[in-house]
Amino acid sequence: MAVYRIINIGEDILREKAKEVKSVTPNIHKLLDNMAETMYDAEGVGLAAPQIGVPKRVVVIDVGDGLVELINPVILTKEGDETDQEGCLSIPNVVGEVKRAKKVVVQALDRDGVLMEYEAEGLIARAFQHEIDHLDGILFVDVAEKISEKKN
Ligand code: NI
Repeated sequence: MAVYRIINIGEDILREKAKEVKSVTPNIHKLLDNMAETMYDAEGVGLAAPQIGVPKRVVVIDVGDGLVELINPVILTKEGDETDQEGCLSIPNVVGEVKRAKKVVVQALDRDGVLMEYEAEGLIARAFQHEIDHLDGILFVDVAEKISEKKN
């Protein structure tokens, strides 16, 4: 496994639409493993493949309840809304208030290529929406209502 450099805002790959994974190969497993290691190393709660320079629809999330690996994730339903603070490993030192759906149902392939459905609420629902946005070249600063400097 390897820790990758996380790409910062300003680089074109963060603005591209990532490509669907055609089949879940050992290379995708390696990508998932490296993404998880990179996310944990950076102390993030989510990471999308474009953030390490790979334009594929692959996401890892861990908000403290264990690792979730998503391949070709799609949001099936959204319910309610909630505004909360968000940050991004690709946009250091900035936080923003972002309105997201409170509950989502997401469909994605897992690492075995099995189609799964995830019902999520609160922080993890926010992480799903933030990371899936990355796959379409959308960053939280594009949708934030208010942006401010992060205080350490
Ligand atoms: Ni992000």
